Amino acid sequence: MISGKHRDTVAIIHKDAIYNNLKNEMNYLEADTEVYAVVKANGYGHGALEVAEIARQAGVNGFCVAILDEALELRHAGFTEPILILGIVDAEYADLLAKYQIRVNVSSLNWLKDANRQLVSSRCTEKLSIHLAIDTGMGRIGLRTIAEVQEVEVYLSKVKAFNFEGIFTHFATADIENADLFESQADKFEKLVKSLKKAPPYIHSANSATGLWHLGNQKSIVRLGIAMYGLNPSGQELELPFALEPAMSIETKLVAVKQMHQGDTISYGATYKSKEGEWIGTLPIGYADGWRRSLQGQTVLVEGYRCEIVGRVCMDQCMIRLPKEFPLGTKVVLVGKSQQDEVTMQELAEHLDTIHYEITCGLTARLPRVYQ
Ligand SMILES: Cc1ncc(COP(=O)(O)O)c(C=O)c1O
Repeated sequence: MISGKHRDTVAIIHKDAIYNNLKNEMNYLEADTEVYAVVKANGYGHGALEVAEIARQAGVNGFCVAILDEALELRHAGFTEPILILGIVDAEYADLLAKYQIRVNVSSLNWLKDANRQLVSSRCTEKLSIHLAIDTGMGRIGLRTIAEVQEVEVYLSKVKAFNFEGIFTHFATADIENADLFESQADKFEKLVKSLKKAPPYIHSANSATGLWHLGNQKSIVRLGIAMYGLNPSGQELELPFALEPAMSIETKLVAVKQMHQGDTISYGATYKSKEGEWIGTLPIGYADGWRRSLQGQTVLVEGYRCEIVGRVCMDQCMIRLPKEFPLGTKVVLVGKSQQDEVTMQELAEHLDTIHYEITCGLTARLPRVYQ
């Protein structure tokens, strides 16, 4: 998809916000806790390489991604820091992982056996660094029992192809008030780690929420995603221990402004009918940019005024009701501050009945990212 370099609709990425969020988290953690910046999904929509560069300047120890291509993108761009892939990679790429020194999570003994065969048959001379994934309550990926973990440890002691670098789990409810499941997961993880004859150097379990609200469970690495982008992982449920600065705002300009007559219809399906004399503005952003169709009814900001999106959001445009006439080219803030008011990603998430993660990740490549 082509990025719209010749358009007025942009996602502005505030570099200082990412830097400051990282620095504040690093200062908040124990001095020896490492921080890996999670830059999967194009840096949650903020731009993987650009975010990785800011994170490097802030002094992170490594990066996390979800798929092999995201790791290779970082390597090809010259990032030499440790990279851990959090998703399952097909064992047929074991030599590629080893060649590029990309750490990978391992979720089964069979994967290790397949990867070992692949490394031997491709005469790979590099060791593949692995982090054992432990499923303590996500029900997603990872080993689940002490027996499985011990079996893997025995296997690893017999083959030379792997460097057993880490073991980790992922919490399902680190971002809510009730800590029952969190504690049971932490307890299970501790027991599984203790069952190892020799623990690997990295034992980790923290995402942003754990890194913010569960001191003592942050262990050797915090895999920091959403907090780096300045968004509260819990939405509104939990108060942040320090302020986060939102890293993205979205802005556009009025490209059409007209005064309507009573009953004039707006957009597909004619779901909105104007009142006499009402001013309607058109914004060049639509669901093909990730500005979702169900944002109908959400408000955006024009010179501090809240203006409702009226009628259906189209693929490339949407319409807003203005309180008065504004000149063409007037700035419209879709997410961010305008005078005394602010539209937040959380506000959009609530309107869409989702989480802010989904909104930033869902912005498409057509919406240019501008770094300030
Ligand atoms: C295993 C794992 N660790 C860490 C993260 C980062 O989570 P957050 O963005 O909430 O910090 C994710 C995100 O999906 C993940 O899957």
